[in-house]
Amino acid sequence: MLEKFHLDIKSRDFIANPYPQLQELRDNMPVFYDEQWNQVFFTRYDDISTLLKDRRLGRSILHIMTREQLGWPPPDPRQVDFDKFQNKVFMDWEPPEHTRIRLLMAKAFTPRHIESMRPKLEVTTKQLIDNVIDSGKADFVHDIAEPLPIAMIADLLGVPEEGRNNLRPWSAAIVKMYEQGFSEQDQDEASTAARDFMNYIGQLADERRAHPQDDLITALVNVEDEGKKLSEDELRSTCIFLLNAGHEATVNASSLGLLNLIRNPDKFQQMKDMVDSPDCEDFLKTATEEMLRYDSPLPMFERWVLEDMEYNGVELKKGTEVALIYASGNRDPRYFDNADEMDLTRKDNMHLTFGMGTHYCMGAALARLELQILFKALMKRMPNISLNGDPVYSDGFVIRGLKSLPVAF
Ligand code: HEM
Repeated sequence: MLEKFHLDIKSRDFIANPYPQLQELRDNMPVFYDEQWNQVFFTRYDDISTLLKDRRLGRSILHIMTREQLGWPPPDPRQVDFDKFQNKVFMDWEPPEHTRIRLLMAKAFTPRHIESMRPKLEVTTKQLIDNVIDSGKADFVHDIAEPLPIAMIADLLGVPEEGRNNLRPWSAAIVKMYEQGFSEQDQDEASTAARDFMNYIGQLADERRAHPQDDLITALVNVEDEGKKLSEDELRSTCIFLLNAGHEATVNASSLGLLNLIRNPDKFQQMKDMVDSPDCEDFLKTATEEMLRYDSPLPMFERWVLEDMEYNGVELKKGTEVALIYASGNRDPRYFDNADEMDLTRKDNMHLTFGMGTHYCMGAALARLELQILFKALMKRMPNISLNGDPVYSDGFVIRGLKSLPVAF
């Protein structure tokens, strides 16, 4: 019999530090049913990684069950424009439709193509640090962590400079819908943002049809997959999703990463020492990977049970939603030695921060490169960076990070 428990993932304390409670759950109640969220939660690494590879679970359910069968109310007219966008997000599809779109984009995300972005990334990182270095203080989130990945993903897609200011507010409004228990105001704002964003991408796509460029929007506009192009809505949703996915988590990964380094001065010193050593690049790879494991910016994802099944004695009925706490798996001592220690030299770091299986993050190589370049530059140019006020955590757990990180250097 499945134990019942309510996990208050919206509490400020839990968002700021979920790890003590997650440890208790892993030890005492690794699987439980939360009536309020109507989800079955899993908190241990082995369970999460096994379920992520199990094809009896998928990211969506509406392709095999109707809303009535699921006991859901009809679609809410309040969020019609948000739904129009979200219904075409390929991450929520299953193979073979999912595979079709993923393959179309794969070329833009190969490690080799991402590596070719290194010079631009280094220049952008330098400029952002130049902008604030003389003032001796900054809000790391606003001044550095946000603009860097936005510039990179906008470059990759081909969003011109003058169109970039809206990307962050549009994305922020849209991703609020991924949190548990969103409000009517969240629905309104997400729908307005989705509509404006869809229109904007539509204009860019029209321009690329007329004047092709060397960017991902042009590639998606021109794509031929056995004669099947992307539909206009698929094209727009895919671009928006990429723009959002391409910066939201990276902003939070770098802010949380820096905060954790500042809070662990011995690790900070180790990183400073290593950036001047011949092993710098190898060290940065393991160090940034460990920062991603230690404090994940996307701590939880859901899956739907696509057929009646039993997993480890737990009965999971078709149409059940399961919540997999990747951040908890990442701290599971049954899998990682000294799981609660940020060990910047950790090897074979098979963390769950980029997911696993069918939907493994396509942008992992880009995110990794951004973090490596950023932390190298920070250690060299702001070696005494410290807190200059209290960090402010985000309002949600599903997309977890900092709204503000005041620093002095
Ligand atoms: C630190 C930064 C990032 C983190 C932690 C992250 C994490 C993730 C995770 C966990 C998933 C899988 C979701 C699931 O299991 O349901 C995912 C999917 C995805 N991510 Fe990322 N991501 C990051 C950066 C990026 C970037 C820079 C891009 C670039 C565009 C990107 C593009 C995508 C795409 C396209 C998918 C969907 C893959 C699919 O369904 O096949 N991500 N990401």
